[in-house]
Amino acid sequence: MPVAGRGGTGPERGEEASAAGGPVEPPTGPRGPVRRHPVIAIDGPAGAGKSTVARALAARLRIDRLDTGAMYRAVTWAALRDRIDLGDPAALARLAGTLAISVGPVVRVDGEDVTDAIRSGAVNAAVSAVAATPEVRSVLVDRQRRWVHEHHGGILEGRDIGTVVLPDADLKLYLTASPEERARRRSDEGAAAVARRDRLDSTRAASPLSAATDARIVDTTGRTVPSIVEEVVAWLDPK
Ligand code: DC
Repeated sequence: MPVAGRGGTGPERGEEASAAGGPVEPPTGPRGPVRRHPVIAIDGPAGAGKSTVARALAARLRIDRLDTGAMYRAVTWAALRDRIDLGDPAALARLAGTLAISVGPVVRVDGEDVTDAIRSGAVNAAVSAVAATPEVRSVLVDRQRRWVHEHHGGILEGRDIGTVVLPDADLKLYLTASPEERARRRSDEGAAAVARRDRLDSTRAASPLSAATDARIVDTTGRTVPSIVEEVVAWLDPK
């Protein structure tokens, strides 16, 4: 099965970014420290295959994953809902810090199912501006790190995971694909819109999309998902 575009969400375990804060303690169980899962960072531009690879890898390793792009989309959706000025960083950051966001096969904001709404044209057009706001990034990066702690590891996919969110990840992947392939995978959004978003995401001042120096670069063009997953598993657990 070649690397697909969006969709195809199978059952997944507990992918949520709760708004609740709480103290950060080392995980312990009745028999001492709980076994830690690997921490895997997956970055790359739109249509590189991040979600497809992250989903398959999470199933193979039986660990949780978090789509951080869905968090930026959720904040953007709520900002449009509340008619918040996208040029008001303080208002956006307040929103990012207080929203109840649950990210999984179903994405919920304040309990409302926004799975489809966060992929709308309006959100596609506005999300890069929200994601370019350092005050929003700081709040969401905190929430993403808390998620990793609460899940004892896991897979995070986004744009700045290996460079900013999890610089000490056990494994960093930077996925790419040919421009034609990426446009095909995101044909619903349109090649021009995807190119515009990629340009904004790569050239912004705050945590622009870039490969960490210690990331493994994976070109997913024409490759099958299982072949990528097995390659990554071997990197994680060299024999
Ligand atoms: O992965 P995606 O296309 O759903 O991401 C939506 C937007 O959020 C994308 O334009 C870039 C931004 N984003 C980001 O800036 N940092 C992340 N860690 C994830 C996504």
